[in-house]
Amino acid sequence: MAENIRRIAINTGGGDAPGLNAVIRAIVLSALNRGWQCFGIREGYNGLLDPDRFDGQGLIRLGEESVRGITHLGGTILGTTNRGNPLHFPVRQSDGTFREVDRSGEIIDGLRRHGIDALVAIGGDGSLAIALELCRQGLRVIGVPKTIDNDLDRTVITFGFDTAVSFATSCLDRLHSTAEAHQRVMVVEVMGRYAGWIALNAGISGTADAILIPEIPYDLTRVAGKIAEREAKGRHFSIVVVAEGAKPVGGHVSVMAREIGRQERLGGIGESVAHDLAELTGKETRAVVLGHLLRGGSPSTFDRLISLRFGAAAVRALAEGQSGIMVALDPPTVNYVPLAEATRRMKCVPLDCDTILTARDLGISFGD
Ligand code: F6P
Repeated sequence: MAENIRRIAINTGGGDAPGLNAVIRAIVLSALNRGWQCFGIREGYNGLLDPDRFDGQGLIRLGEESVRGITHLGGTILGTTNRGNPLHFPVRQSDGTFREVDRSGEIIDGLRRHGIDALVAIGGDGSLAIALELCRQGLRVIGVPKTIDNDLDRTVITFGFDTAVSFATSCLDRLHSTAEAHQRVMVVEVMGRYAGWIALNAGISGTADAILIPEIPYDLTRVAGKIAEREAKGRHFSIVVVAEGAKPVGGHVSVMAREIGRQERLGGIGESVAHDLAELTGKETRAVVLGHLLRGGSPSTFDRLISLRFGAAAVRALAEGQSGIMVALDPPTVNYVPLAEATRRMKCVPLDCDTILTARDLGISFGD
């Protein structure tokens, strides 16, 4: 089966994550070393679905020179998108309403027309679910787990997560001095969708006093109690980290926008927590939203290395004749897991994991 491979394509889908370019480099060099040709699909699958937008260059040949000097660069040389899922593509009707259309057949046809034998899909849960469907339709597919949120199942870590956590941690370090100088409560909102991995890991590393995550609905009177406890000890400032998907006991996540053809956009919880804590504690509070800063910039050393390992492992998997799998970190090795299992459910923070226990032992409040 593997001997048949002559041409492979790469796609990067969903929100970008630091390490994407390193994965692309590893795939391209590993494929070229096997005598295969390598192509990149522009902007998710748009390069195949709407090639006119790219002057017919929706699929570009990737040679050694295309991936020179990109390991340390953020973003993706191919472009990406997190709107217009091809399995549920929104098409505007004459009456102004939208109808969802499955365009996966067009992707398969486009790849066949270009003589592509296999696809390496680099993405999070949404992109890998699309990749799984393409695989079910007969395409050879290997997935690579990407997302700063770290919410993909069956891998200990996704690439991009370490960079996001490191950046959030250094922001918390900086916020300490200004919080202390003004004796304020700083509320720091971080991304992560419906999982609390970024908030938890950065919050502990950056010595936050409270961490609010989606997995543990919070009661702000508990957080106010923690702040009062600190006041009593002469610590007149506090740092609260809030995951964008955190919600109060009995309440809902804070949704910033709902748009056709994309997932709901979370956000706004930081401001509302800061407002409520000001009322509960009588202290001056400020909210800081780290947002897309967590996704930008150069990948950390860890992310560069794991991205290169994932990319090379994806090509090895193809060479071994594998398909329908995702490369995954199972320390100390990178192994393969079924794509169907990796995309079955979201990986949330287990409430009994040692990181949560560590936070509790250190006296960090989860607002519960
Ligand atoms: O999934 C990655 C992520 O950065 C989430 O943490 C966040 O909720 C979302 O993407 C933001 O997406 P957008 O780029 O559309 O603002």
